[in-house]
Parts: sequence; C-alpha cells; structure tokens
Amino acid sequence: MNDHGSMVRTDRLQPDAAGLARAAEILRHGGLVAFPTETVYGLGADATQAEAVAGIYAAKDRPSFNPLISHLDSVRSAQVQGIFDETALRLAAAFWPGPLTLVVPVAPTCTISDLARAGLDSVGLRVPSHPLAHALLAAFGRPVAAPSANRSGRVSPTAADHVLGDLDGRIDAVLDGGAAEVGLESTIVACLGGPPRLLRPGGVPREAIEAVIGQKLEGASETGNNPVAPGMLASHYAPRAQVRLDAKDIRSGEAALLFGAGRPGGIEGAAASLNLSENGDLTEAAAHLFSYLRQLDASGAATIAVSPIPEAGLGEAINDRLRRAAAER
Ligand code: TXA
Ligand code: MG
Repeated sequence: MNDHGSMVRTDRLQPDAAGLARAAEILRHGGLVAFPTETVYGLGADATQAEAVAGIYAAKDRPSFNPLISHLDSVRSAQVQGIFDETALRLAAAFWPGPLTLVVPVAPTCTISDLARAGLDSVGLRVPSHPLAHALLAAFGRPVAAPSANRSGRVSPTAADHVLGDLDGRIDAVLDGGAAEVGLESTIVACLGGPPRLLRPGGVPREAIEAVIGQKLEGASETGNNPVAPGMLASHYAPRAQVRLDAKDIRSGEAALLFGAGRPGGIEGAAASLNLSENGDLTEAAAHLFSYLRQLDASGAATIAVSPIPEAGLGEAINDRLRRAAAER
C-alpha cells in the first residue's frame, strides 16, 4: 500500500535465484516482502529504514507500535546489533538458526531503526533456520524487521496463500516457500543483564532452554497458566518530559512536536521544535516519531507540546503511543 492507502500489485515470487534477487531488491528500496520462516510467514521490511518499517504497520492495520523482531543471517550479524552476555551467547550457539528470539541491549553499532525497536534500548533478534529465509537475509545483508504476515487480529500465516488472503494488494511481494514447519511463533527470551526471562513461549520449549543455561527461566509460570505477556518487560519508551497533546499553540519554553504545514502560534518561543511530517504524511511521521521524541526530550524542556494528528491510518498507532507518553507519569 502506498501513503495514500491505494492498492499495489502483490507479486508471488518463486523460491529460486531470480525470486530471491527480486525480494532483496524490493527490501533495498524500502518495500514490503512476506517470506517463509520455520515458524510462520513474516512480513519483512529493511529494519534500518524507519519508513519501510512504518509500512509494515500500515499494511497490517496495526493500531499500536510494538517492538518488532529483526531477522539476521548469522550470530555474527546479530552481534553488530545487540550486546550478548554469556547466557545470550550460549543460547544463540545452541538454538540459532532456529525458532528462538533473544531480546538484548542495543549495541553502539546498531543500525536497526528506532521504530523497529519502538524506541527501546533493547532489540529483539532472531536467526531463522528456514533455507529461503536464510538465503534472503544473506542476499540482502541487512537486518529484516518482520512480524507475522497477517492483518492485525487475524491468525498467523503458515503458507503463501494465507498471506495473500490477508495482504494481497497491500504488500509488494510474497516469496512462496511452501508450508512453514513449526506453525508456532518463536520463543522469546530476554537477556538484559539480570536472570534470563521467558517473554513468550514458542517453538523452542522452555525445558530445552533451561537445560542449556543450567538454570530456570524467570517469567511465565511453570504451569503455563500465567504467561508473561509478550513485550511486557519492554515497558514502553516514555519521555522524561510531560507530553501535552492536541496543542494548537505553543507555550513559551515548551518543545514542539509538529505535524503538517501549519505554524502554530507561539512557535517562536519554543525551546526546540521538530516536524514529524511537513506534508502531513503519516508514514513519514511514524518513521520519525521515536527519534524526535527522544531529541525533544534531550532539549531539557519540561513539556513537549504535540500538534493534533489525524486518527486515520497510521495516525491511530501514532496517537496511541503519544497518549501513553502523555499518561505515563
Ligand atoms: O516466529 C516469530 O517470532 C515470527 C517470525 C516472523 O519470525 N515473528 C513474530 O513477530 O512473531 P511478532 O511481531 O508477532 O512478535 C514480536 C514480539 C512482540 O510480542 C514484541 O513485544 C517482542 O517480540 N519484542 C520484540 N522486541 C522486543 C524488545 N526489545 N523487548 C521486548 N519484547 C520485544
Ligand atoms: Mg503476530
């Protein structure tokens, strides 16, 4: 789908050299390609291009920004993006390539966009074992952000036909690799300094992980009755400053987060200001959201005043994030 919500042609790419080359080319140009992994089909975009990542949310109709998993071709590529402690290294050695996602602190060399990380200082990484996924990641050479390739609220797809049923006309291509084997999403383990925690049960059983690290995982209960909600540890990025929404004018000393061409009253007196999108383009606005919030927060202003943002399309997810930032105190 383009910025104005119109349909695109979705190509079904064959699992051969030409299909892979085309898929990598689409990713390089900031497009969206669904591809098979051993768990489910993922909806991929270049994780380093925030606007491409914003396109994932638009195509899925997802009303909120969650941190996404970035997919890589090797442990070595993953270590450019995240900091692996001893436990994380051991888990990567034991289960990669495979259906395990590790949430680790962001490395100084990380190239994954703020939007793919939902503004967090941690990053979710996975090296999938599906041969086509691996071939695509190796050909592309950059991290690929990919949630499951379904519309928000629908079940995860395990075949190219499922992907097309949900996303035909909204994404550039699906790489057809037949049926996904596991059919269950990856297990997510956070290694953030403290004891490792299970964030989401999935394709790798808890017991197998505990056997490798020689200790019990914290998080979801032993019986599985009380699993930790995915992303729960993530505790969303919240600015230090107060956030004032729907600001039609700017008060002296506030930092201003603008949207659209208008110049609000009082803007001369702003401590700092950034415009999410002068053209009123919601995909561009989503791409800038987290980095601009951080930059304005760093200005030291006590309050960030935010221009009204339409609730349509990606505006819903942008406003959801801003409302949380305004409420979290
Ligand atoms: O099997 C899978 O994991 C599939 C395939 C495509 O790889 N992907 C998938 O992505 O299930 P998704 O977007 O449906 O789930 C990603 C989960 C979210 O629940 C998110 O909260 C968590 O990963 N996650 C990612 N990065 C995180 C982070 N930095 N901190 C906490 N949770 C994170
Ligand atoms: Mg999903």
